[in-house]
Amino acid sequence: MTSLDERYEPIAVEDRDDIGSNNSANVPLIEITQACPSRRGLLKGLMASTAAVAASGALPKMVGAAAAEEAAKGPSTLTFTQAPHKIGEGHQVAPGYNADILIRWGDKVIEGAPAFDPMHQTGAAQEKQFGYNCDYIGYQPLPLGSNSSDHGLLGINHEYTTPDLMFTDWYRPPEAGKTEPTERGTTPEETQVELAAHGHTIIEVKKEQGVWRVVENSPYARRITMNTACRISGPAAGHDRMKTNADPTGTEVFGVLNNCAGGKTPWGTIMISEENFNGYFGGGDPANMPEAANYKRYGISAKSRYWWRESVDRFDLAKEPNEPNRFGWMTEYDPYDASSTPVKRTALGRFKHEGATSIVNKDGRVVFYSGDDERFDYLYRFVTAGRYDPANRAANRDLLDSGTLSAAKFNSDGSLEWLPLVHGRGPLTAANGFNSQADVLIETRRAADMVGATPMDRPEDVEPNPVNGRVYVMLTNNTQRKDSQVDAVNPRAANRHGQIVELIPPGGEGAQADHAADRYNWTHVLLAGNPAKPEDKAVYHPASDVWLSSPDNCAFDPRGRLWISTDQGEAQTKNGIPDGMYACDLTGPGRALVKFFFACPIGAEMCGPEFTPDGKTLFVAVQHPSEVLGATVEKPATRWPDFKDGMPPRPSVVVITKQDGGEIGA
Ligand code: FEO
Ligand code: CA
Ligand code: CA
Ligand code: CA
Repeated sequence: MTSLDERYEPIAVEDRDDIGSNNSANVPLIEITQACPSRRGLLKGLMASTAAVAASGALPKMVGAAAAEEAAKGPSTLTFTQAPHKIGEGHQVAPGYNADILIRWGDKVIEGAPAFDPMHQTGAAQEKQFGYNCDYIGYQPLPLGSNSSDHGLLGINHEYTTPDLMFTDWYRPPEAGKTEPTERGTTPEETQVELAAHGHTIIEVKKEQGVWRVVENSPYARRITMNTACRISGPAAGHDRMKTNADPTGTEVFGVLNNCAGGKTPWGTIMISEENFNGYFGGGDPANMPEAANYKRYGISAKSRYWWRESVDRFDLAKEPNEPNRFGWMTEYDPYDASSTPVKRTALGRFKHEGATSIVNKDGRVVFYSGDDERFDYLYRFVTAGRYDPANRAANRDLLDSGTLSAAKFNSDGSLEWLPLVHGRGPLTAANGFNSQADVLIETRRAADMVGATPMDRPEDVEPNPVNGRVYVMLTNNTQRKDSQVDAVNPRAANRHGQIVELIPPGGEGAQADHAADRYNWTHVLLAGNPAKPEDKAVYHPASDVWLSSPDNCAFDPRGRLWISTDQGEAQTKNGIPDGMYACDLTGPGRALVKFFFACPIGAEMCGPEFTPDGKTLFVAVQHPSEVLGATVEKPATRWPDFKDGMPPRPSVVVITKQDGGEIGA
């Protein structure tokens, strides 16, 4: 018998989900960094804007120390003094702001939830408590249809579980002849905890006397876990490849898996993404099974990252070879109805969805942008066939079941083409193994390979900015890109720090932008990294005095400024800077002048930035505090946020407000 260590992949490896499975022949546009017109343009633009400010005398005229201080601030419209840019055991926020814990792993969500007892946690308790590793946060106002910024619902994703920081005695002493400890594997009961710690939480929140609290025993409160019945809809629903022994209809599945970022729809529903779903499946002989090519392209192998298949049959490929086809989708649910069934919308494609964010196009169609977070994978767009009806919520219920999914091709002349993934068009035919649109969607990655999409440096959040009508793409990093693979939009080999790309739809600014057009333009906002290290080839506004690495999620305040959350993974230690929230202007002389606002505790990444409509509250998610190599429940790197002996670190939602009650960053 093989040992557990041989069968399962180790936990706590940098970018363990980023396995890089794109072996398609798509050749990136080859262009050396120095010759990259967009980068040259970016540099030129930044220098020109700074020079223009200096020449115009736009900075206020002051004297002495005040003038020096103002000059040091530069032309940014963001007024806050920066947070300490240092890794610590606690969190830090810019002076003049409060950053309070709203809800933590194990806190009560559902009426009757037991008090959190981390040493005796059960699946049944976890089903009623706040899950692990909070990521996406979506705010929906109460009542429905209002613009309230003091009362609403928060839908929060729980991406994955970290057993070494959840369960005691996770590591076994080194075996004879070995120096490294080994993981012992989860017990069946711990697996039940993990199944229930994944998924999503809905809570009702209220601001009273300036302080936010969770409303107890709210009728909206809900946990969606790996045990929640979901419906499958759209072109792939009911297809043979979606059927299992437990579900011969191919239309019903339990749970949402690895829920990273997400999105909202204009009709008040929330989109839950399924990202690194591959790591939960294993067993059998996948290389010689009917779905072998599909498994390979999505990184599914005989090994799995989790131990679930030891006690739950559906995660064993030998027993349920189609179960992985039922994950990797975007799931829509209605937070205003706690009894509603979440629906997997297959028309939006199957890949490692970071999220899916929407905007109503000027013609009434609704457009979703979504990144596939894997090195050398693609950026996608979905345009609904039907039009949004703001007067009739029910009429929008199944809008996401028909429309056109496309993948992005970036050209070196600064243009972008959306390539439709439609069965029967171009190479997406039976001759290439696509017998229907269901096949195109189940194997979205292979379809995008065939049409010639541009392999990207790990697309994380992609969000339309409602103020200027442009779209922002967080490309987090790609250390595996070779010199021969650099192109205009991914201009650095061994890209450790990532870049932010701006997509410019035609038609005009703001609401005039045409998000359904076939061609856009694009440019960079910044190339992340440390400007003090020439080898990083970082590019920011020259007045920036702080640097960032690995942009992940983003949000826009009501003025349309960009707020960036970061996730360096294991590189946090190497880079020596915390993950957290950064912000910058996107227009005017302060474009790409980055300022640091909030620091996560050690080992944590920052997720879920979400403003209330008035811009006076910013919700953020602190995910996997203490996730550094070798940290355990017994010896964590921090016991944030409780700092109590015996209490493990707890992923938590933090609510940030300004002490004077004003707009964040104003
Ligand atoms: Fe789960 Fe792409 O971050
Ligand atoms: Ca994450
Ligand atoms: Ca992410
Ligand atoms: Ca990330």
